[in-house]
Amino acid sequence: MTAARTAVVCGLGTHLPSGVVTNEDLAKELDTSDEWIRSRTGIGQRHIAEDGTATSDLAVEAGRRALKSASTDTVDAVIVATSTPDHICPATAPVVAARLGLGTVPAFDVAAMCTGFVYGLAVAAGFIAAGTARSVLVVGAETYSTILDPEDRSTRAIFGDGAGAVVVRAGEPDEPGALGPVILGSDGTGSELIRIPSGGSRDPFRAAHAERADPYFRMSGARVFRNAVERMAEASLEAVTRAGWAPEDVDVFVSHQANVRIMNAVADQMRLPRSRFPVHLDRVGNTAAASIPLALADAVTAGGLRPGHRTALAAFGGGLTWGAATLTWPDVTPV
Ligand code: COA
Repeated sequence: MTAARTAVVCGLGTHLPSGVVTNEDLAKELDTSDEWIRSRTGIGQRHIAEDGTATSDLAVEAGRRALKSASTDTVDAVIVATSTPDHICPATAPVVAARLGLGTVPAFDVAAMCTGFVYGLAVAAGFIAAGTARSVLVVGAETYSTILDPEDRSTRAIFGDGAGAVVVRAGEPDEPGALGPVILGSDGTGSELIRIPSGGSRDPFRAAHAERADPYFRMSGARVFRNAVERMAEASLEAVTRAGWAPEDVDVFVSHQANVRIMNAVADQMRLPRSRFPVHLDRVGNTAAASIPLALADAVTAGGLRPGHRTALAAFGGGLTWGAATLTWPDVTPV
């Protein structure tokens, strides 16, 4: 008998910082309004971590809850998907593994911005398929509030902080929770559309040139918007087709929560009712790599995502990067 080597989702945990910034709060500081933000993005508020809270602090809490949800206190590897690591180096995952008491397991970060969680899932599935690990904790965690320009209304309106995590274990392909095909892609010709210009090796921090450095997150919103719709729809269709499903077989489509207009456009392009795309961003904004696990937990809690539902996941982010995956939702209770 061959060993089971399909990644099966068996735990889900989330953590949001308690601080909430509403659109009205932002409008007191910036030239914006609740009406503009809601009508252009669907976002009503976002959670923002307190000063001094790092991404690992959120990741540890979500990770702890995912382990509890999976009824386990061990895994063979830890992957943290983030574009707001605690430090440029070292990676955030080893600290998370240590603080979770997971010993000396392999731990590393995946940097694919808002697609990071789907990339992380794919890497975890690869570890399990190769027999490198029997179980993996995959965390998406972000503190975007630490990289946004306080004066930039277009990014501050969108992004929020948070963390979500799943545990995947080795299992059989026909089990509920078994990950189906994962489709990933990138297009580095669009790398300038979303980036932090300074502080990396291209424009390193130098005290002498500090005044011309730009350490903040920058995004060409309208161009990102068009790319996000096309790439998420394409990748999702491919993932669904490879799973042997027709698009209309998808019961619940858990999309990266960047902008409700992007989600609606993907639904329209796939000829799926918009009601199959659960919306979480109204309460949390775009939480980048944390977005999909947070949206999964919210959909389960709200009763819209139930065991047996045919589920598609799709994300798009800086890089540019994108990804999609399928699974039949398992009987997992988020913690
Ligand atoms: N309040 C008021 N006005 C705002 C605003 C805000 N919060 N944010 C941007 N604007 C303004 C812009 O300054 C611009 O003004 P100008 O024409 O005077 O220069 C105007 O609105 C139009 O900007 P544009 O970027 O074309 O608007 P948009 O309709 O594309 O909406 C985004 C902006 C950012 C909401 C939208 O492009 C978007 O959601 N993009 C994708 C974001 C995303 O998914 N990012 C992460 C990748 S995962």
